[in-house]
Amino acid sequence: MNFNIKNSVYWIGKIDWELRKFHGDEYSAHRGSTYNSYLVKEEKVALIDTVWAPFTKEFVENLASMIDLNKIDYVIANHAESDHSGALPELMRHIPETPVYCTKNGVKSLTGHYHKDWNFNVVKTGDRLSLGQKELVFVEAPMLHWPDSMFCYLTGDNILFSNDAFGQHYASEFMFNDLVDQAELFAEGIKYYANILTPFSSMVAQKIKEVLSLNLPLDIICPSHGVIWRDKPEQIVEQYMRWADDYQENQITIIYDTMWNGTRVMAEHIAKGIGLSDKAVNVKLYNLAKTDKNDVIAEVFKSKAILVGSPTINKGILTSVAAILEEIRGLKFKNKKAAAFGCYGWSGESVKMIAENLTTAGFDAVDEGLKVMWNPDDAGIESCVEYGKGLPVKLA
Ligand code: FEO
Repeated sequence: MNFNIKNSVYWIGKIDWELRKFHGDEYSAHRGSTYNSYLVKEEKVALIDTVWAPFTKEFVENLASMIDLNKIDYVIANHAESDHSGALPELMRHIPETPVYCTKNGVKSLTGHYHKDWNFNVVKTGDRLSLGQKELVFVEAPMLHWPDSMFCYLTGDNILFSNDAFGQHYASEFMFNDLVDQAELFAEGIKYYANILTPFSSMVAQKIKEVLSLNLPLDIICPSHGVIWRDKPEQIVEQYMRWADDYQENQITIIYDTMWNGTRVMAEHIAKGIGLSDKAVNVKLYNLAKTDKNDVIAEVFKSKAILVGSPTINKGILTSVAAILEEIRGLKFKNKKAAAFGCYGWSGESVKMIAENLTTAGFDAVDEGLKVMWNPDDAGIESCVEYGKGLPVKLA
């Protein structure tokens, strides 16, 4: 499959409808994904990125159906991660002398992955590569989201090839932002940002400002996953600026795990209490053992505060709670508040442990949390409701 995007620019990637797990098993892809590769057929021909290795054969065949591989003058590797470079070894076996343009860190990453001495050409921000009438302008984008990441921009057609930035794990035969369901598109966009780009938000904002300062006209953004932004491409740029600015909605997310429902009952009654004193706040509850962790992270991203609950087990916390706390620690959320809760039978360490983890992760713990012994009785339930009622003031 391939299709024209504009003038001499073609999409030649792979729509992966079957994908459900990405980054090994780390990232859920409920709506599949795409690996976007682009062919620019000007006087000189440039190929921008490839696809994930399992699709190498069909990718190279597809490419060869569009152009004699020997007519490809330049291979651009915007990013070395395997989902974009997986087909490179096979492609380069056909055209071993073709120059590969990438950042200095791209050489390290590609060599580290494939151990091949390809004809690397290192580029830096502002470097230009002539394709004839048009040029590719390179912009390094370190840590968006790997050290090697870069964008490139095609003059004349005003297309930004942004690699992972502005992408979504979202399979669609439509392939353009104006043709797909907008709620699905932005749900996948925010999940992608929350789970992958959150730790690099300051760099996201800085890089966008840097690119905007170049005053390059922008007609289309071609990311490496999901749909192409041809309709008002600035909308996703503006959305990224909002997401990068310690994004939050009027939402409190309560995440917990439970053994015999005591901590679940606590969660539900804390939620009830919050609702009694703040009718406007969107309170959402997720049992971590039953909910996809990447979906939970997207909800944490949207929240102004989170409550994390676990009963005490073996003087510690349940493993699903430990896992999400580790995920949260690594994502470096900013400007969010938090509290801990949980029931216990005898020693009762869980709440203190969760609160310490949240503080370490950069959350502002609003109090010492709430512990209830055994399954909450009427008094215990009332204490949860009262605790919830007091939270909006503490979170203000
Ligand atoms: Fe889509 Fe960082 O690879």
